[in-house]
Amino acid sequence: MLQSLRVALCVSVAFLAGASLGALTLESVQLRDDDVAGFPGAKFGLWAGHHPSKLECKAFPGTDDWPSEREWRRLNATLGGALLQPVLPAAACYAGPNYDADKCAFLVNNASRSHFYIDDPVTVLTQWPQGETCLPVLNATGTCTRGGFPDYVVNASTVRHVQAAVNFARNNNVRLIIKNKGHDFGGRALGAGSLSIWTHHLDDFEFLPHYRKGRYSGPVAHFGAGLEQYMLFNYMSRYNITMVGSGVRTIGANGGWFAHGGHGNLASFYGLGADQALELGVVTANGRFVIANEEENTDLFFALRGGGPSTYGVVVSVTVKTYPPITLTSSTLSIACNPPADANARAQFSPISAATNLISDPSRFWDAIAIYFRYKQFIVDHGGVDWDYLYPLGNSSFTFRTSITFPNTTAAQAAALLAPLYTALQAAGFPITLNTTALTTTPYSTSSTQPPPSSNGLSPQRYRSRLLPRANWASDRLFAATMSALRGAVADGGYPLHTLAIGATNAVAGWPGRTGAVNPAWRDGIVHAILVTQQPARMAAADARAEEARAGKWTAGLRAVAPRAGAYLNEGDPGEMGWQRSFYGRHYERLLEVKRERDPWGVFWAATTVGGEAWEVRSVDGYPRSQRSQNGRLCRTGRVWEDEEDEW
Ligand SMILES: Cc1cc2nc3c(=O)[nH]c(=O)nc-3n(C[C@H](O)[C@H](O)[C@H](O)COP(=O)(O)OP(=O)(O)OC[C@H]3O[C@@H](n4cnc5c(N)ncnc54)[C@H](O)[C@@H]3O)c2cc1C
Ligand SMILES: *[C@@H]1O[C@H](CO)[C@@H](O)[C@H](O)[C@H]1NC(C)=O
Ligand SMILES: *[C@@H]1O[C@H](CO)[C@@H](O)[C@H](O)[C@H]1NC(C)=O
Ligand SMILES: *[C@@H]1O[C@H](CO)[C@@H](O)[C@H](O)[C@H]1NC(C)=O
Ligand SMILES: *[C@@H]1O[C@H](CO)[C@@H](O)[C@H](O)[C@H]1NC(C)=O
Ligand SMILES: *[C@@H]1O[C@H](CO)[C@@H](O)[C@H](O)[C@H]1NC(C)=O
Ligand SMILES: *[C@@H]1O[C@H](CO)[C@@H](O)[C@H](O)[C@H]1NC(C)=O
Ligand SMILES: *[C@@H]1O[C@H](CO)[C@@H](O)[C@H](O)[C@H]1NC(C)=O
Ligand SMILES: *[C@@H]1O[C@H](CO)[C@@H](O)[C@H](O)[C@H]1NC(C)=O
Repeated sequence: MLQSLRVALCVSVAFLAGASLGALTLESVQLRDDDVAGFPGAKFGLWAGHHPSKLECKAFPGTDDWPSEREWRRLNATLGGALLQPVLPAAACYAGPNYDADKCAFLVNNASRSHFYIDDPVTVLTQWPQGETCLPVLNATGTCTRGGFPDYVVNASTVRHVQAAVNFARNNNVRLIIKNKGHDFGGRALGAGSLSIWTHHLDDFEFLPHYRKGRYSGPVAHFGAGLEQYMLFNYMSRYNITMVGSGVRTIGANGGWFAHGGHGNLASFYGLGADQALELGVVTANGRFVIANEEENTDLFFALRGGGPSTYGVVVSVTVKTYPPITLTSSTLSIACNPPADANARAQFSPISAATNLISDPSRFWDAIAIYFRYKQFIVDHGGVDWDYLYPLGNSSFTFRTSITFPNTTAAQAAALLAPLYTALQAAGFPITLNTTALTTTPYSTSSTQPPPSSNGLSPQRYRSRLLPRANWASDRLFAATMSALRGAVADGGYPLHTLAIGATNAVAGWPGRTGAVNPAWRDGIVHAILVTQQPARMAAADARAEEARAGKWTAGLRAVAPRAGAYLNEGDPGEMGWQRSFYGRHYERLLEVKRERDPWGVFWAATTVGGEAWEVRSVDGYPRSQRSQNGRLCRTGRVWEDEEDEW
């Protein structure tokens, strides 16, 4: 009881602090105890003193404990009508009351190149976690089933909406999910038999030129968790400022991207997205809205800056550092080995152009790639990043294309930074030169009047990540082993490789960034290496298992050269072995304490989030655990976390 009073007090103090900041409209509309006095289903939870539910599974539609229609109507009333029961868009493709041939044609042919999926209350971009369900296909047979999609959605535009949803889910033992822009590769914004909090419309923004917190004094931006990256770029133009964001403009600026780090073009210069936060507004599992910063709710302030999505609460708003305007200078390099003669094949992946450097001997090609990878350390040590793709095309044919970006440099300065790469290539006998006229210097902030189309639409991709440490560049032997593991995966395994040079060190992260829960593997990492595998929707369970075993061989090869390397949850695999250590490193224990203290009920859950081992989806399509769709009931496993290795 005392505990809950203390928290209640904290809330009002925190809210005043927010108000002095100039609270956002979305933060000022809150749920009060009086509002739910007559509605037990939406009452606040008592702080840890409450007896958490010990039921084995979450309620599920059709079971006795699923809330009645009347209860849902009362929730809707408390929400002021913001409760949705969305029809799945692809129902338009199936016989029945929602059949609509034109809409179905749009979904099949055009939706992926539009903003459609980003604006929809339930859709997500990766298909396999949806399970057996309503795929958008022409001339569909069968029926449109709900798969891993939620039953109800709260269209949240205020803190009050989020609070009512959290209270209702907790009190009724209903599975709760959070969807922002739906880009997560592992199905973390899905869940059968759930209530979803859709944060898309939490997008208020304010710029505060004068602000002081702890060691920081300067300008900040304070905005809602549902803001989209392209909007952030628009605000940068409008206010003549820089904020750290992702290059991909349809990602949420403060949802999943931020929750496990968040990288972009300024990652080696100003750090990750999570490194920028000075304060966060969050609705915790008991339904209370609190401010977390370095003075109050410090456990949350630590955990929410990199400690994973959908775990400790619903982030509603963030206050981030802003910087003066900055430019980026970018340069590209393309190398191909025996590109196919066929014009269509040449145009695919990394298209062959006049600027492509051709190498016919595969072993020489890999020598050139190794010289390039060596140079990645130099890129990050000079504040830059790169972004490259290496595609195997069969028959010893490969294409490689990279884009290197140095912030705050003129073209001449960038050319000087690129010189060591070209010198090394030429010294090794490759007649590859830098085209200085192709160096482009552009402002980091840009504005677009139209929302951007999603960059790859619905996708069958599964990313498998390794954050390769600096140590693998320090020794020639280890570097050679690293290149050999990468080459094996591409040349023998046949997997495309996507790598990014990123140096988000503690020094770059600064204060308070370095005090957050960002995976320590980011801090001494140089390269984020991603093997790209495919799991098409409706892949047979046996095929999924076989592919898992095949890919596992090559991911194991990468782990062997960097056993403690860690991985990036947002572009990693939900089947990652030992994900607790890979995704959270030595922070796992501390984060688990925060999780247990803040969410004793198990309100929040998503695959591979802290404490996630205690739950599993009883999925109905027979995939192995690591590839489980979200189409079944969420139940307790009875497992608690035990580390197999104690040397970390
Ligand atoms: C095309 C594409 C490009 C990408 N490029 C990059 C890149 O350049 N850099 C990079 O770092 N990553 C990149 N990613 C990965 C990206 O960071 C993750 O997919 C991220 O989860 C996307 O955020 P979202 O807002 O779309 O999340 P969603 O998919 O909506 O949600 C992701 C997770 O975050 C949780 N969540 C969302 N909002 C909140 C909230 N307010 N409070 C608590 N939990 C919340 C959800 O429950 C879910 O678990 C890319 C992904 C795609 C598909
Ligand atoms: C919630 O209420 C609004 C407004 O009355 C209504 O339009 C909406 O359909 C309701 N939602 C549900 C799920 O019934
Ligand atoms: C799809 O886009 C094309 C142009 O890109 C347009 O001609 C066509 O009408 C669109 N189809 C649908 C169903 O919207
Ligand atoms: C769908 O059916 C129409 C006519 O019924 C046919 O013209 C078309 O080719 C079919 N499309 C697919 C993808 O099967
Ligand atoms: C969600 O709420 C916003 C207002 O915040 C409104 O503009 C939008 O139309 C709503 N979306 C749906 C699908 O109801
Ligand atoms: C933008 O800010 C920079 C540095 O902070 C300043 O030099 C420049 O004049 C500003 N531009 C505008 C249009 O305000
Ligand atoms: C590889 O080469 C063989 C023989 O030249 C050819 O038949 C085959 O199509 C090629 N495969 C690819 C993927 O180019
Ligand atoms: C950007 O470069 C200029 C000129 O080299 C330098 O004076 C300035 O400090 C740099 N800005 C940052 C943020 O590093
Ligand atoms: C160099 O880059 C410029 C600008 O992109 C381009 O027009 C030119 O053809 C390039 N030259 C070579 C040799 O690739």
